Amino acid sequence: MMRLFLAVQLSKPMKNALINAQNEMYDHGVRGNYTPEENLHLTLAFIGEYPEAEAVLEALSSLSFVPFGLQLEGLGCFGELWWAGMRESPPLLALARRIRHALAENGIPFDRKRFSPHITLLRKARGSLPGIGVAPASMTVEAVSLLRSDRGRNGMIYTELGRIPAETGKPSGMD
Ligand code: 2AM
Repeated sequence: MMRLFLAVQLSKPMKNALINAQNEMYDHGVRGNYTPEENLHLTLAFIGEYPEAEAVLEALSSLSFVPFGLQLEGLGCFGELWWAGMRESPPLLALARRIRHALAENGIPFDRKRFSPHITLLRKARGSLPGIGVAPASMTVEAVSLLRSDRGRNGMIYTELGRIPAETGKPSGMD
């Protein structure tokens, strides 16, 4: 069995903005388990324990979407889990919905909790959310990644098992 989820891998500038926000939190005395740079991501669907990565990629093989923009906006928390949010994005919501629909149609289990787009910055946060913001960094989403999550000696290790690229935007059948 493997612990699987589908996510957007973030661009370097986006990660830099997130790391700056983490550093500011730290400087304000906030302690907890900060997400290391390589683990920052935006989850679209959490599958959990499942034996076959290939079946997941196969279920999503007919997923087609055009690249779209994502912009950081705001910080928030779910209890001790603190996150960075995104500007409201209809294409992002549509993508998550279509992914979940494809998983359901193919009998692949996933967490049905309502999609609430967030990037986890730290867990087990101690301290109160300082009055800081996050830079409005943006990026273009050009692929969805299938990630495997393993518990490492020093936290989680995420490994990309495959990706579903967005369409290039070129109409098919034309030169
Ligand atoms: P989180 O950061 O809010 O915990 C890998 O665990 C990714 O899947 C994380 O981004 C995590 O979100 C997300 N996720 C969504 N539902 C989950 C669940 N039921 N259990 C664990 N992780 C979940």
